[in-house]
Amino acid sequence: MSEPDKNINDLKLLFPEEKIQKKVKELALEIDAVFPENETIFIICVLKGSVMFFTELSKHLKHNVQMEFIRISSYGNETKSSNNMQAIDLTLPDLNNNNVLIVEDIIDTGLTAKFLTDMFKIKHKPKKLLFVTLLNKKCARQTDINPDFYGFEIDDKFVVGYGLDYKGFFRNLPYIGYFPSN
Ligand code: IMP
Repeated sequence: MSEPDKNINDLKLLFPEEKIQKKVKELALEIDAVFPENETIFIICVLKGSVMFFTELSKHLKHNVQMEFIRISSYGNETKSSNNMQAIDLTLPDLNNNNVLIVEDIIDTGLTAKFLTDMFKIKHKPKKLLFVTLLNKKCARQTDINPDFYGFEIDDKFVVGYGLDYKGFFRNLPYIGYFPSN
């Protein structure tokens, strides 16, 4: 049997469901305002963490969208970033000269965001490439990357819920919280 080694009762609430939903709607408005009217946006879900944010965001976008999915290997079961990453399960259409929005759950060190941005620019040559993340851990940054849009800036805490996991658990929570270290 697989059980989490953290107890959900110890979780401290950071962002309740309603606050996240309000923010996601605001982000959709911001994003719609920036992409050219009447043009399709290819929105890229970075699995697995951004799955909830991605689906919720897509519901509020007014542009035509095409939903695409990509998976990056790096974190494994650890809570630390790795410099060693690669795109797996990459079955993207031709994005050349198209509008692309990369949708992430969180930018921590920025290594993933940098890898993705560089890869899309070089391999896909999009017309417009923008990056949105729900959470921005600015204080943990190890690269010069900054998202075009973000929902909330957070301290250097390991957070779970709303797609974000700890060892594969807690992704399904509709809110975001953290386990205090003591
Ligand atoms: P970065 O490459 O260090 O910016 O990390 C990006 C990825 O690490 C995210 O897409 C998440 O999957 C994972 N990650 C970073 N911080 C957290 C966290 O606090 N909770 C859960 N996952 C995290």
